Amino acid sequence: MMLFVIYIYLTSLVSGENEDKTVHQKPDNLILNNGETSEIKCSHQIPNYDRLLWYKQSRNKEITFMGYLIGEMGYPEEPFLNKIRIQGDSNKFKGSLTLLNVTSENTSVYLCAAYYTAAPNVFVSFKNIQ
Ligand SMILES: *[C@@H]1O[C@H](CO)[C@@H](O)[C@H](O)[C@H]1NC(C)=O
Ligand SMILES: *[C@@H]1O[C@H](CO)[C@@H](O)[C@H](O)[C@H]1NC(C)=O
Repeated sequence: MMLFVIYIYLTSLVSGENEDKTVHQKPDNLILNNGETSEIKCSHQIPNYDRLLWYKQSRNKEITFMGYLIGEMGYPEEPFLNKIRIQGDSNKFKGSLTLLNVTSENTSVYLCAAYYTAAPNVFVSFKNIQ
């Protein structure tokens, strides 16, 4: 059985200067078999945005927070313990989300966001994701 895991990348969370505020995710989509493990990469170049956050968006558009990366430590939310790995180095603005033992039920849109500890209102931008 095949499934799609679709990612989109998220642009510009906060208005600002001339910096590149784009958050990049790779690849754009993936086709996986049951039981496989997949890695979604995320990077950005936004100074001071020292955390990477991961979300999934279900078919009814509901956004679920999956966990975050701070420094080299990943902190999955309780429902995702042993189901995902969050790795990377958020101080280098790079991270990955690994989905473990995927099944067709894991078909979803997975989102990455850069987070600035002192600017929690970045969350607002998620409302615009279609
Ligand atoms: C996931 O797969 C690995 C290797 O196939 C297996 O060792 C592990 O028990 C599985 N984990 C779960 C939660 O099914
Ligand atoms: C994948 O689907 C299984 C079964 O529904 C679920 O337990 C698990 O949390 C899902 N993993 C993710 C990353 O959503």
